[in-house]
Amino acid sequence: MGITMIRKYKWKDWSMPIRTDAIVVPVEYTEEGKLPFLKTQFEENSLSLTYTMEQEDRVYGLGQQLRGINKRGWIYESYCKDDPNHTEDKHSLYGAHNFFIVKGKESFGCFIDCGGKVIFDIGYENQNILNIETKEPCEVYIVTGNTINDIIKQFRCGIGRSYIPPKWAFGYQQSRWGYNKKQDIEKVAEEHKKRNIPLEAVYMDIDYMERFKDFTIDENKFPEFSEFAANMIKQHIHLVPIIDAGVKIEDGYEVYETGKDKYFCKDKNGKDFVGGVWPGLVSFPDFMNQEVRNWFSSFYKDLLDMGIEGFWNDMNEPALFYSQEGLKEVYEKAGKLDWNNFRLDDFLELQPLVNQLGGNEEDFKKIYHNINGNMVRHDKVHNLYGYFMVKAAMEKIEKERPDKRILLFARASYIGMHRYSGIWTGDNKSWWSHLLLNIKMMPSLSMCGFLYAGADIGGFDGDVTEDLLTRWLEFGIFTPLLRNHCALGRRNQEIYQYESWKKMKELICLRYRLIPYLYSEFMKSALLDEMFFSPLSFIYSEDKQAEEIEDQLIVGDSIMIAPIYEQNKSGRIVYFPEDMLMLRFETSTHYVKEKVKKGYQYISMPQGEAVFFVRKNHIFILGEGGKYVDEACKGTMTILGWFEKETSYLFYEDDGYSKEYNKNNFETWSVIKRTTLKEDDWNLKIQGGRQSKKYLIEKDII
Ligand code: GLC
Repeated sequence: MGITMIRKYKWKDWSMPIRTDAIVVPVEYTEEGKLPFLKTQFEENSLSLTYTMEQEDRVYGLGQQLRGINKRGWIYESYCKDDPNHTEDKHSLYGAHNFFIVKGKESFGCFIDCGGKVIFDIGYENQNILNIETKEPCEVYIVTGNTINDIIKQFRCGIGRSYIPPKWAFGYQQSRWGYNKKQDIEKVAEEHKKRNIPLEAVYMDIDYMERFKDFTIDENKFPEFSEFAANMIKQHIHLVPIIDAGVKIEDGYEVYETGKDKYFCKDKNGKDFVGGVWPGLVSFPDFMNQEVRNWFSSFYKDLLDMGIEGFWNDMNEPALFYSQEGLKEVYEKAGKLDWNNFRLDDFLELQPLVNQLGGNEEDFKKIYHNINGNMVRHDKVHNLYGYFMVKAAMEKIEKERPDKRILLFARASYIGMHRYSGIWTGDNKSWWSHLLLNIKMMPSLSMCGFLYAGADIGGFDGDVTEDLLTRWLEFGIFTPLLRNHCALGRRNQEIYQYESWKKMKELICLRYRLIPYLYSEFMKSALLDEMFFSPLSFIYSEDKQAEEIEDQLIVGDSIMIAPIYEQNKSGRIVYFPEDMLMLRFETSTHYVKEKVKKGYQYISMPQGEAVFFVRKNHIFILGEGGKYVDEACKGTMTILGWFEKETSYLFYEDDGYSKEYNKNNFETWSVIKRTTLKEDDWNLKIQGGRQSKKYLIEKDII
């Protein structure tokens, strides 16, 4: 792939405080200042880029963001935020993914490489104006290409290969904040086993730690941890512990003691900055510094040695519930209140002070990093903090386990981090609108290289309902990360807690039958810089109706999904941009096929059935399923499709653990028409690769 279609622009004497390494290929530095497509204004260290949009122009990208697939009509802020209320009026979430594409008469991609805040006004102030503003030093990349997919391919090639997790991480995973002791986790495993529900991992939230201290294990609640982990692995279940960014301030705690006065971010006086998160008062490792990364990540070794093969990094925006200074102000104000002479105004003055304590941007201006000997104010590099925490973890993991893939995903992210880990989409709610948000966000994440991604299935905060959990699973079985996670104190969310668990179990069992296809498509997306989830408009670019459909997605190359995301629905209108073969899985083993013609159709979708569609003249592969991922990838593969002509599919497979992604893992499967004297017959020809798979073509659909 040529890299000539990416151009870089920067401004004299405006250099970034730290290399982000978001772009990893050599890119020709074009010229000072003037960009193609965008009107550029650079004055007093402030950059403004403007584009006048035509009525029919669409804007795609920005990764983890609110609102639609087409980003027009809102103002977005790139500033990693720990905000659990993902409502329409917000401007940022946990990630800072500054890549977008304008698709119209002229199409181009643009990436703003910037550690600080960037504002993307995409038709907010003026419906037809796209305006990007930042006051933080940045470099801008313009990406061109022949099609939208070509632009994405160029960009993804430029940012380097996406993180590839172990194959077991495509299995079903159960999490909950509040699994408080070993027995709670064992019970989750047992309850799944008893009912033959596949389960690949159980997560360990902050409850496993001693007073929420990173890299500690509460021996009272989780005794003989290595043995426990080994027992779980014997059942094909991985334990996945959480690691948070803030380090508890506590005398005698090794991580704190060894980091104190040395490795933590500073305040303006050069003292360790102090803030409040789950453990109470914490200091924050200065991940921008290699020495600090080496120090902090050295603590992963013990967990790896105890048999842990997966981690999640959290609270790394960083989340800051309060700064010591901010809290002091509130206490002082409250202390002055005269309870005997209480005025409403006192309350109204106190309330905002309390509300503004968490994630206060003014506090981020009080934190400093040591970057190559320079004190750099945190807000200048805020968007990189989570990224560098993850980088630290993966650098160590790779050193310790060079030949093995280890699961890692995180909450805060920046483009570049996609090479080290996946992400989950943070603290959503058990709301139908958040199921829809999950659907709409996935293609934007694919564009930015975050392929191993998924939301908390069922919703994190709030009390889920049985129908929402089932509907979320109907969609979730297509997302690479399939994890049911829920907040402390909320309604139980494990599927076996519900009367209709059998239906949900069938969906999970079906996921295991989908894994050969999903994994093949995932790996091709990672290795060939392709989209895993595509909006219809990227595939059917000439189709005006398809352009506006945002609640249906193409998964990989061969299938389309149209999830239900509203309560009390038993079906929905689906738009078919071409003829497709509908597969309706009443259970994981019983399915019916029906040909559907191009156009709008009402499709019935009873709760618990999985219905999706194979594009005409595309090959879809269905495995036999299994109790765990390894098993699910063995056995006979059924080839399904509506073939009117000879059709090929590039099938990818590997052992799922090692890191050799070579050409032996690719096979070309071609469905070929063979005319015999009696009837037309179809045959499968396999070229390349190992050719070890058993397969079967379902003839009745041809
Ligand atoms: C944060 C995480 C959530 C986790 C909780 C407790 O809110 O986003 O997933 O359960 O912290 O650790």
